[in-house]
Amino acid sequence: MIHRTRKSFPKDFLWGAASAAYQVEGAWDEDGKGISNWDTFVRIPGKTFKGTTGDVAVDHYHRYKEDVRLMAEMGLKTYRFSVAWTRIFPKGRGELNQSGLAFYDQLINELKEHQIEPIVTLYHWDLPQALQEEYGGWESRQIIEDFTNYSIELFKRFGDRVKYWVSLNEQNIFTSHGYQHATHPPGVQDERLFYQVNHHANLANASVIKAFHHYVPDGKIGPSFAYSPAYAASSSPKDIVAAENAEDLNSHWWMDMYAWGNYPTATWNYLMEKGLAPIVEEGDFELLKEGKPDFMGLNYYQSTTFEENPLVGGVSVGEMNTTGKKGTSKDTGIPGVFKTTTNPNLERTNWDWTIDPQGLRIALRRITSRYDLPILISENGLGEYDKLEAGDIVHDDYRIDYLRSHVLAIQEAISDGVDVLGYCVWSFTDLLSWLNGFQKRYGFVYVNQHEEGTHDLRRIKKKSFYWYKKVIESNGVE
Ligand code: BG6
Repeated sequence: MIHRTRKSFPKDFLWGAASAAYQVEGAWDEDGKGISNWDTFVRIPGKTFKGTTGDVAVDHYHRYKEDVRLMAEMGLKTYRFSVAWTRIFPKGRGELNQSGLAFYDQLINELKEHQIEPIVTLYHWDLPQALQEEYGGWESRQIIEDFTNYSIELFKRFGDRVKYWVSLNEQNIFTSHGYQHATHPPGVQDERLFYQVNHHANLANASVIKAFHHYVPDGKIGPSFAYSPAYAASSSPKDIVAAENAEDLNSHWWMDMYAWGNYPTATWNYLMEKGLAPIVEEGDFELLKEGKPDFMGLNYYQSTTFEENPLVGGVSVGEMNTTGKKGTSKDTGIPGVFKTTTNPNLERTNWDWTIDPQGLRIALRRITSRYDLPILISENGLGEYDKLEAGDIVHDDYRIDYLRSHVLAIQEAISDGVDVLGYCVWSFTDLLSWLNGFQKRYGFVYVNQHEEGTHDLRRIKKKSFYWYKKVIESNGVE
């Protein structure tokens, strides 16, 4: 639909920004914090860009007051951050670490004092290493109980002040990178295990949501899903089937489970045929149906285009661009199912991510039509090289263009009738990109931190900082 006039953003729209503990906090071994899978993984040579670690990250742990002051200056309505499980339970379970709880208490209070609504993510990928070693982390059903107990501690401690929660961040990404591509911990390539791990994560997610509704009955919780809407490369029905396959296998496989407690039929049949379907125990589907989210969290960065991939001789292993050299990613696929291809209608970033604001509108529309849930856009942003110029200035006009077009797409989706709760831009300050170091920057606030050497970590407001401030002030009118 082309709207003659677009609807306004709702009065209580949550204009925000987001981060994750490992990417901002630093203080990796302070105040009783335990070791996480990422603390371990980054120490394996060759795993991250130039061997970067989150040991210091952008030192948010020590500088959170300064960061919150900047958020308040911008007028941010909400800040989404994650809790490091290892600060609360250094070994994943057992003894509680009071200093860890105290840190998040202070952060939450600081936000509330500045009228910023906290959105807390329970799990943004930093699993206690002790659980990985003890029983393989997500590979064992024991994780359901441990993740639930950890989450309940947070609900009890912060539920009086925190009303918005995200359960799992991008289950599809941490499991595929961890168990299909071996690029995230635990660095495994095992297709069957990948689906089994996901079944456990689904159960853990449902169990936590169920507990949440008991402990924080007036709050809202949902998972954040990395949804990249699938497009067909052409109007050839074969390409359209490939795109349908991609929607089913790459997206409905997770979102159907979150919303309905079911796996989609075509994908389930395909996995059964291949011997990859997870082992399901009695009572699993009952639990999966009981843990219904209050909203769908959407992390949107790009759309992906698909075409037919022959069963024999088809493309399988692709390559991700983690260097920032445009054009170095390679198409990927599953023979007989789909393969990705370049969309000639879309520009790409230096990391080969498509720039597609209408893709965000399409994602919002598809989620609404299929699941009829409110949506929290829990991440969206542009990762690019930023240049710090003389006089501490960063002219990130490309980021402003990117965000402006996406804000307009959200407004179009709202005019289409989509219920959008808020928009959390990734990210507030610059932060560590898991595989791309500090060269790929997302923030409104530049942080003087780099892959090599020691830096002063000073905060510098980019041009986009002032732009977003105006957007918030005018509730999206400007
Ligand atoms: C999302 C994650 O996948 O994308 C973030 O939730 C991540 O943690 C962001 O940083 C951007 O990805 P990248 O690889 O560009 O840092």
